[in-house]
Amino acid sequence: MDRIAITGGARLNGEIPISGAKNSAIKLMAASLLTEEPLRLTNMPRLADTRFMGKLLQRLGAEVIESDGDDGPETLLTTREIVSAIAPYDLVRQMRASFNVLGPLLAREGHAKVSLPGGCTIGARPVDLHLQALEALGAQIDLNEGYVYAQAPRGLKGGRIDFPINSVGATEHAMLAAVLARGDTEITNAAREPEMVDLADCLNAMGAKVAGAGTSIIQIQGVARLHGATHAVMPDRIETGTYAVAAAMAGGEVRLTRTRCDFIQALLDKMAEAGVEVTPHNDGLTVKRNGARLKAVEVDTAPYPGFATDLQAQFMALMTLAEGESVIRETIFENRFMHAPELSRLGADITISGGEARVRGVASLNAAQVMATDLRASVSLVIAGLAAEGETVVNRVYHLDRGFERLEEKLSACGAQIRRIKGGGGEDE
Ligand code: UD1
Repeated sequence: MDRIAITGGARLNGEIPISGAKNSAIKLMAASLLTEEPLRLTNMPRLADTRFMGKLLQRLGAEVIESDGDDGPETLLTTREIVSAIAPYDLVRQMRASFNVLGPLLAREGHAKVSLPGGCTIGARPVDLHLQALEALGAQIDLNEGYVYAQAPRGLKGGRIDFPINSVGATEHAMLAAVLARGDTEITNAAREPEMVDLADCLNAMGAKVAGAGTSIIQIQGVARLHGATHAVMPDRIETGTYAVAAAMAGGEVRLTRTRCDFIQALLDKMAEAGVEVTPHNDGLTVKRNGARLKAVEVDTAPYPGFATDLQAQFMALMTLAEGESVIRETIFENRFMHAPELSRLGADITISGGEARVRGVASLNAAQVMATDLRASVSLVIAGLAAEGETVVNRVYHLDRGFERLEEKLSACGAQIRRIKGGGGEDE
């Protein structure tokens, strides 16, 4: 199993192009099931998770062709017919977001059998809201032996979906199903993440009628059929935020391009409060820190436009070297501090109590062997390694490969001392 070794202390200087958003890309790929015509997605990230979604879609009947277009990597998805409306456990357990094929299968075929998902080990992560949304659209749902059996023999019909809490995946799922339902659907208390807008834009390009994505009320007029389209995947806001924090941690000056800073405003406000210089520009932003010690700041994760839970681990790594005590509250997922004990192995001073972490800044971190536990936690260890004295080795990097495209290449192009150690020998074997 691969490991990543980082020798800390090098400043970062240069440019990092941001890839297409993983979380958006996988839902956009699921949208291709809604039409028999080709959906061409450009600015596609090439990641374990997108490859994985491609495999699942192929199993359901899609033809998936990857190529390099004028504007970077693209994927052409064509599902002339659904050959199987069954998403088996061995595929769904590996990536929770693959559960989102249920709605499109149901909308197009009138029935589907999809395994309950697995995914990152960051809390219970139920799918009750997904199922409630589909039931509001007239689906009949039964659970049996770890599978969801869904039926809508006469097709889905528009309805009112009122989410009790914000859910990214359930809001997307509701959109993916309602676009082909008969009549109108209104989703209230919808998630407002930029990925909602990206999905709605793609669906509308395919002939859907979705209004209000990005606000808490989404209205959908169902249409009888969707057609093919070309859509550019939005920039990855979590990758953007991750490299912004990495630059702040290592020091230096890094320009992040092909992205948008309004997507991570809550993070940038906290970085500025901590003493990092952030300059927005047309194509992204520049992050600069010239050696002065950062100040500890408090952070509460929240649904968009609040501070993203997917940037919490990275920010915690940054706070380990800040002056003073930082309080970080995780309000979206329980059990999302698994990086804290690993950061402590590098010399960080962190106390966890329930959903709250207290990080007392230390003067320096020292390299150690650490273990990646989930996708975002893993990258926080890489970030800490950039500033730790000596060589930090991160084990179990398959988590990183799920969500960060060419991470070592992007960081080493800016001067980081980072390399991948292929295969064998790790404590994880
Ligand atoms: C998505 C992102 C993930 C991010 C999260 C929150 C993808 C592939 N993943 O995950 O990276 O961390 O949004 O921004 O897009 N919940 C329920 N019942 C449900 C669904 C969710 O109780 O049916 C709860 C969850 O346990 C969690 C909260 O709702 O406490 C928010 O989860 P949700 O927004 O659904 O996250 P995901 O879509 O799984």
